[in-house]
Amino acid sequence: MTALAKTAEPTRFSFKDVAELATRFDGLPAREVLKWGLDTFGRRLLVASSFSPEDIVLIDLAVQIDPAVRVFTLDTGRLHQETHEAIAAVRSHFGIDIETFLPSQTAVEQLVSAKGPNSFFESVENRKECCTIRKVAPLRRALSSADAWVTGMRREQSVTRTGLRPVELDMLNGGLLKLNPLVDWSAADIRGHIEARGLPRHALSDRGFPSIGCAPCTRAVKPGEDERAGRWWWEKPDDKECGLHK
Ligand code: ADX
Ligand code: SF4
Repeated sequence: MTALAKTAEPTRFSFKDVAELATRFDGLPAREVLKWGLDTFGRRLLVASSFSPEDIVLIDLAVQIDPAVRVFTLDTGRLHQETHEAIAAVRSHFGIDIETFLPSQTAVEQLVSAKGPNSFFESVENRKECCTIRKVAPLRRALSSADAWVTGMRREQSVTRTGLRPVELDMLNGGLLKLNPLVDWSAADIRGHIEARGLPRHALSDRGFPSIGCAPCTRAVKPGEDERAGRWWWEKPDDKECGLHK
């Protein structure tokens, strides 16, 4: 199956607007970027959460600004049980709903019938096909009610993210605004915030998983390895994105 088509032109924001915002937001505290997003877009802004430590920090900062902030997750059907436990802990800690998007039942049935449950190990193309069905298509649905979304991405996470800006035009999703308020936070900053605020923790982040995705495609990293080395570990580091962001 082919990847979902990218949008050619921005629909809601110009490249110039976004470049100006990016310059304005560079180096600004995460809280201020989030406040701007919530003030500007209200219920048309969605926070994306995989319940990694950075996403829990993001929810904490957002809830302090707007307790009714909309948070969503993409439940691929292949998540770790520890991720479901983290979702339950976050719901209860913050008293919020988590808007949950599942993959198309028909698309998953066709994929698994034709290629089996673990086709992603066989080729990069198969892996991207699975990510498209289980993550990217549900993301499109999630964002259909948004003008802007927020991620927990950080520059130091990997070689594919060193050029990340605090705000970007998301051409993969129809020209929405994408805010990355934690862009210049380090892993130690994230840990410090979780501890200082007594936030729920994802159990795997204490077991050597600095980046957490689907269970079959994520492993613990060894000391000194890149934060995302455990994601799709059998692939080359310069192409390890699933289509949510690249
Ligand atoms: S991924 O593209 O490789 O999966 P990564 O796990 O580093 O991304 O997460 C980057 C950001 O994408 C997270 O901080 C979060 O905002 C968003 N994200 C990733 N996975 C999900 C998910 N399953 N549901 C919602 N948002 C997600
Ligand atoms: Fe499929 Fe693995 Fe991508 Fe999850 S991370 S959607 S299991 S290929």
